[in-house]
Amino acid sequence: MVSCNWATTALLTLLTLSSSGVHAAPKKYKPDPDQIKEKRQLLQTINTNQPLTRVPITLATIGTIGTIGPTFTRDPATLSTTATLLTLGTLPATRIPVTLQTVATNTLPTLGTLSATRIPATLQTLATTSSTLPVYTPPTTPPGYGYTTPGTTSSSSIRTTTSSTRTSSTSATPTYTPVTGANTTCYNRLKIDVLQRTDPDQFNMLVLAWQKIQASPDSDPFSHYQLSGIHGAPYIPWQMGPGSYDYNRGYCTHGSALFTTWHRPYLLALEQSLFHAAMAIANQFTPTAVRTQYLAAAGRVRLPYWDWSDPVTQSYLPPITMQQTVTVTRPDGSGNPVTATITNPLFAYNFLSSTSVAPFGTPWNTRLSTRRYPDGSWNDRSYLASSSMQSGFTSRVTNTYNAFLSTTYNLFSNRVEGVHDSIHGAVGGGGQMSYVAYSAFDPIFWLHHCNVDRLMAMFQATSPSLFVTPASAVGTFARPVPPNTIDDASTDLFPFRRADGSWYKSSHLHPANTIWGMRYGYPEVPCSYQTRTPAELDTFTTGQVNTLYGGGRTLPGTSREWNVRLLIDQAEIPGGYDIYVYGGTRPQDPYSDPYGKGYIGSLSSMSMGSVDQYKQSRIRFVDVSLNSYLKEYGYGGADPYKITEYIRKDLTYTIIANGKPCYFQDLYTAKYAVYSRDVYDSGKDDVLPYYTSDPYYHLNVTEGYVGGIKYLDEILYPVKVDGSREVPWAEVNSTRIQT
Ligand SMILES: *[C@@H]1O[C@H](CO)[C@@H](O)[C@H](O)[C@H]1NC(C)=O
Ligand SMILES: *[C@@H]1O[C@H](CO)[C@@H](O)[C@H](O)[C@H]1NC(C)=O
Ligand SMILES: *[C@@H]1O[C@H](CO)[C@@H](O)[C@H](O)[C@H]1NC(C)=O
Repeated sequence: MVSCNWATTALLTLLTLSSSGVHAAPKKYKPDPDQIKEKRQLLQTINTNQPLTRVPITLATIGTIGTIGPTFTRDPATLSTTATLLTLGTLPATRIPVTLQTVATNTLPTLGTLSATRIPATLQTLATTSSTLPVYTPPTTPPGYGYTTPGTTSSSSIRTTTSSTRTSSTSATPTYTPVTGANTTCYNRLKIDVLQRTDPDQFNMLVLAWQKIQASPDSDPFSHYQLSGIHGAPYIPWQMGPGSYDYNRGYCTHGSALFTTWHRPYLLALEQSLFHAAMAIANQFTPTAVRTQYLAAAGRVRLPYWDWSDPVTQSYLPPITMQQTVTVTRPDGSGNPVTATITNPLFAYNFLSSTSVAPFGTPWNTRLSTRRYPDGSWNDRSYLASSSMQSGFTSRVTNTYNAFLSTTYNLFSNRVEGVHDSIHGAVGGGGQMSYVAYSAFDPIFWLHHCNVDRLMAMFQATSPSLFVTPASAVGTFARPVPPNTIDDASTDLFPFRRADGSWYKSSHLHPANTIWGMRYGYPEVPCSYQTRTPAELDTFTTGQVNTLYGGGRTLPGTSREWNVRLLIDQAEIPGGYDIYVYGGTRPQDPYSDPYGKGYIGSLSSMSMGSVDQYKQSRIRFVDVSLNSYLKEYGYGGADPYKITEYIRKDLTYTIIANGKPCYFQDLYTAKYAVYSRDVYDSGKDDVLPYYTSDPYYHLNVTEGYVGGIKYLDEILYPVKVDGSREVPWAEVNSTRIQT
């Protein structure tokens, strides 16, 4: 029997690992011989009595590339706010085959038991304190719910020390450094390729700084090791005292309204570390002119980003992240500049020793460097990451653009998170990036998340009235949440403190101009706009969004946006899962090449390894735009019946759970639905398109298929593993249309 459940296969996997070493060869998995299972769950709504008809995957006639949906010019003032219901003809109840191929899988590394070894929290207090970073020693306060919160702001006795003040290693109160970013004036974070080309000195200092913090001792809170470790493993407190932490997960927030906001101070902490490291290196140059030049460059050091939806560089990995070495100018022993070729800190992170990885679960406790698409000998194959990314490019652009049309902040956050999740999978290929617990160790993680932060800043600029609204909470390392807890804009974003010692909250990160106060901007939310009005910023940023990601606009008029929504209760598959959608064609072997030809999007859990045995029950969904696929296959035109027919026939789905094939009929909560809605586009450069109808679900595109919905409730009010129903957190109030 095929099982999508990690727990039932864990033992087998562990046995395999121990007999063949950690670099187990990819295994072949038999396909499920019994595609149609008996109704396993009472609430399963599919009609399992229907005979299974396999439909060969055929490329439908490819017509000329036309516009999508009916395009006609209308005066926005007269736009009706009612949905245009499409009249659909009778569709045959043919099933889409859930794959029957015998395939090898790309075996995703499976985690064994998590070692209980951790770096003692006392080590935190021994970190070096730089005289250039203000160090505060806050008072200890009584424990609050679930954990001790040292240094809550209720007490004001915060001491600033300029010389190195170390707390004794027996103190319960850690010394900590607030997260304030760089200390020079505001500079824009640049696209990595642009940084390399246009400011080689800053790039030089960035590389040297990153090399330096990767070499810093594991005990240094601002080392690459500890900053990366905040996200997930090794599950140790960061600049927080003893407490009742949840050692099953990291501090990061996923599937939550706080996804975008939590990562903002997180990135700022790395930027701060890189900045000060760059300054320290620049100061080592002895010739005055050289020192002056590189101090100026170090002052500009900001985290660069990787724009994976950029129309020019598309979704390829930035070349610098794929090269093993890089040439730099650095101070030699006597401070003179020398040219040297060094191990590239943007290519991979090399752990300092086996002690560094000892706290990780098997097999990560033997892997001493980060890799993408590692082969059996743990060699890097970033070129596979690059081609996987590229095949999702066109739909990724549409999904990125659509995120800006979101009518609530939470929906925007969910859309960006969905795009982001699938990138973790496409880049990792079983390497660290595929796992929440380990992803932040790969340097590309930071460039990837910097882009997420940039999209957040752009959305804040273009939708200044929208921000985080209350939604059901997600537990983290320092915030174990009891049932019915709510996350909102005033939830503490542990473990990051502001200059005054208080915890960051999302509310501190709103509106868009707050990033300039943290001394960074983006080309689309530039530091140069600090003296302009929010309206001017809105106009400027909107123009940038339209130019960068609005390539497919057919102007002006109303068109139809087609989407497939994939949905699951994440608790149903402990470990990691991905549900892939293919349009028109699909890879010959989707299990070994899930991002191959035909890939248009996916719902990705970002495997959390053993951690996910305790995954909180929560509905996760992603909307994958079908428009680029429809356009590519020439399925445009004004006949929505045709479109639904194509979609019904040509969309296929593949589920991989913990490296193995899994099927909708094995799952209780996994569903997919197809909907469309009207979008009005004025064609003006400084105006974004907006929805003029609510989503209309095309039930007869999906009904009759295993996993496809038959009733609206299945997608609007989905079933969780315990049989209860809930509105997904990002969906609350999100379907409001512009009037
Ligand atoms: C498809 O939907 C349309 C519109 O709701 C409806 O008129 C039609 O009967 C449906 N067809 C099938 C096969 O359910
Ligand atoms: C900024 O940081 C640098 C080095 O990291 C330090 O030398 C300088 O004094 C700091 N400037 C301010 C204004 O804090
Ligand atoms: C959603 O809308 C309803 C009605 O407008 C309102 O009462 C409720 O507070 C809103 N919920 C959120 C989370 O914004």
